[in-house]
Amino acid sequence: MKIVAKTIGIVTSGGDAPGMNAAIRAVTRIGHSKGFNVVGFERGWDGILANNFKKLTPRSVGGIVQLGGTILRTFRCPAFEKPECVKLAAKNLQQNNVDALVVIGGDGSFRGALDLSKVSGVQVVGIPATIDNDIYGTDETIGFDTAVNTAVASIDKIRDTAISHERIFIVEVMGRKRGFLALEVGICVGAEVILIPEKPLDLPEIIKVMNSNAEKGKRAGIIVAAEGYGDSSKLAQDIQKQTDFEVRLSIVGYSQRGGSPTARSRLLASLFAEKAVDSIYEQKGNSAVGLQNGIVTSFDLETSARGKKPLDLRLLKVAEMLSL
Ligand code: F6P
Repeated sequence: MKIVAKTIGIVTSGGDAPGMNAAIRAVTRIGHSKGFNVVGFERGWDGILANNFKKLTPRSVGGIVQLGGTILRTFRCPAFEKPECVKLAAKNLQQNNVDALVVIGGDGSFRGALDLSKVSGVQVVGIPATIDNDIYGTDETIGFDTAVNTAVASIDKIRDTAISHERIFIVEVMGRKRGFLALEVGICVGAEVILIPEKPLDLPEIIKVMNSNAEKGKRAGIIVAAEGYGDSSKLAQDIQKQTDFEVRLSIVGYSQRGGSPTARSRLLASLFAEKAVDSIYEQKGNSAVGLQNGIVTSFDLETSARGKKPLDLRLLKVAEMLSL
């Protein structure tokens, strides 16, 4: 297929996030309303390397706003870390007359987008979509709110059985090396302890909290642990050995990545897409879009791809007071 008119390409890359489809739909429809053709590359970066793409029209993206996953499918593509692959992608985009590329994904995808932007004449725009919420420059990413809600619904059920059996549950949530998901989930479920990589409590500190809770009459408890904190299974065994509590481990897992996006994830996806198409229309150059203090805004792609998003550690203090 040869593309002739002004064309926007879309790629979803890395781990999927609920709301990616809402973003694909919105880029396609808003792109068309501004006179662009839109194509979708399939299976992440691999689709660009293999010239595997399809035309997206306002009709072909109908009925997907409520769907989790990504209709373009996604793929972790380690080959894209090689400069020769990035150059091939740039060449393929140019040969297919793609004028701008919208990259919907997380931090790895943003780094790939940055590499591509350095060697291609194509305008590259990043839309942050990851359940980890760890993209620098945006207060929130597409999919984060859905993942928080999924984990909270799951842990609320675990709380019931924890209380009945008078047990401690360690519940591990995703987030890769960061604790954004664990922190927000922990507050929402009333966790007795929240374990995150950014400020890890050690075993004696955790035991101290559990023992003091027992003295206060708390016979059950929830410890929310980010997957990046460490070995949750060993932690469960250690706590059981060193306290009178019976301890169980429950891993929420990949359900956090799927499911119908919440209204908030859909809204962010739609508004981020509008901003992304607008910055392509205005030919603002390589950029990323995101939410800053409640305002959807566009900012430098390189700063976003290279920056480390700070986590508000004050929230740990709030969680501590809430679990009195
Ligand atoms: O980045 C999203 C994420 O779900 C992380 O929370 C998790 O660590 C990782 O992806 C899992 O990756 P994979 O899908 O390759 O197993």
